[in-house]
Formats: sequence, structure tokens, C-alpha cells
Amino acid sequence: MKKAIIIGATSGIGEGLAKILTKNNYKVGITGRRTELLEALKAQKPNDYFISSFDISNTQIIDEKLKTLVSKLGGLDLLVLSSGTGDLNETLDFSIEKRTIDTNILGFTYVADWAFNYFEKQQSGHLVAISSIAGLRGNGVAPSYNASKAYQINYLEGLRQKASKLKLKIIVTDIRPGFVDTAMAKGEGQFWVASVNKASEQIFKAIQKKKKVVYVTKRWLIISLLLKSIPRIVYDRL
Ligand SMILES: NC(=O)c1ccc[n+]([C@@H]2O[C@H](COP(=O)([O-])OP(=O)(O)OC[C@H]3O[C@@H](n4cnc5c(N)ncnc54)[C@H](OP(=O)(O)O)[C@@H]3O)[C@@H](O)[C@H]2O)c1
Repeated sequence: MKKAIIIGATSGIGEGLAKILTKNNYKVGITGRRTELLEALKAQKPNDYFISSFDISNTQIIDEKLKTLVSKLGGLDLLVLSSGTGDLNETLDFSIEKRTIDTNILGFTYVADWAFNYFEKQQSGHLVAISSIAGLRGNGVAPSYNASKAYQINYLEGLRQKASKLKLKIIVTDIRPGFVDTAMAKGEGQFWVASVNKASEQIFKAIQKKKKVVYVTKRWLIISLLLKSIPRIVYDRL
């Protein structure tokens, strides 16, 4: 059996992907802060899931938590980083910006580096992170969210380049969803909203194919091209 960890498996995309992985012969370490949700997921397949409850913004405890989880799993082939937070913040409330930075940047970086270093020692492994199409441009109502996703996109590219230069067999996959029907999808004017199951199935296929960058669902590639092509003078007025 292959061994995976999903950071942020208590709900949404992480939970959806955990279910797909266990159907496909993976043992899965599931994490998040809401322990009761991890226990409910484990109860569905007690032999396939292993729980570790922690907050990724508390970087001092992550090393110990992940080491223990890997030893329960008996190894690690795949780590999926799905934990994330983001809120509309029109008043620029600093506590919202800080929470976003602590989770999507500090916690993200700690876990991504931990996985990379683990895979480097092992000489192989697959790191997958759920960034967002939001990382392609700034956003006046959620500035820290979009900026944190831009950081993630660039960070993953950096790790991919590092793996390639060192000739390591480490795959780095950047998943960029549009809208997915979870608690994270906030704000007006949502469209092409994918179900968690559809998004998770597409993410699983991208993992199997060892893709580098993937838009979920696929047609969000069109929006990505459009977003990147809008001149700043126009974008600033949207
Ligand atoms: N839904 C969308 O439309 C959409 C679009 C683009 C990208 N994304 C990205 O997809 C990823 C998953 O989000 P989702 O849509 O599945 O929403 P979700 O259901 O709200 O899931 C978010 C996950 O992140 C975990 N999390 C949040 N803060 C955490 C922390 N401090 N420590 C540990 N875990 C934490 C949550 O677990 P606990 O609360 O139990 O800790 C939960 O498992 C996020 O990175 C999000 O930015 C979502």
C-alpha cells in the first residue's frame, strides 16, 4: 500500500481527496485542528486512516507531529498540503491578514520544506499543494489571500527547480482550483463552482499523472489565461 499524508483533511478538498486515496489502496494520515471531524472520517475506514490533530500555524510542533504520523503509516510517498484560510477583508482588519499569513505562508512553508527534506533523504516522493487561481492576480477585497496564494505558486516553482537541479526524483504538483463548493468559496459572483467530488477526482488524476501545474476544474485554464492578459490599467478598475 502507498502512504500519504493530507494536511487539512477535516473538510472540503482535503477530505474529498482522502476518501479517493483510501479507495485507491493508500493508507492516509489525516490532519487538521478539528479532531472530531478527523475521528468521524477515521470511523469510516479505521484501518486506512491515521489521525494527527494540529494547527499548521504553530510551526514549533509540526516536526514532531509529522514524524509520529509517518512512523504510524510506516513511510511516506505523497504529502498533500490542502490546509488554507482566507476571508474577505474590506476594512483591512490586521487579525485576518495575520491569520492568512500564519496559515498560508508560515505553516505552508514549514510543511512544504519538511516534506521536501524528507523526500530528499528518501531520494523520492511527491509533494502536492492546493494553491489557487487567486494567486495569479491581486484582489482588493481579500489582499492577503491572493498574495499568499501567489507566494505558494512561486514557492512550489522554486522547490520544483531545486529538485530538478539536484536531479532528485521529487515531484512537485501545484493544484490551482477556481471555485469549489466548500466553506472557503466566499464572495459574490461565483461561477463554474465544482463539487468537492469532481475537484478531488481531477486532483487525484493529476497526482497519478505526476503533473506540475493543474487548473481544477480544467476549464479554469481559460480564466487563468484571461486573468494574466488583462492590462493593469484595466485590472485596477475592475
Ligand atoms: N473552495 C475553493 O473555492 C478554493 C479555491 C481555490 C483554492 N482553494 C484552496 O483549497 C484548500 C482547501 O480548502 P477547501 O476549499 O477544501 O476549504 P475548507 O473545507 O475550509 O478546508 C480548509 C482546510 O484547511 C484546514 N485548516 C485551516 N486552517 C488551518 C490551520 N491553521 N491548521 C491546520 N489546518 C487548517 C481546515 O482544517 P481545520 O479547520 O480542522 O483546522 C480544513 O481541513 C485551501 O488551501 C484553499 O485556499 C479553495
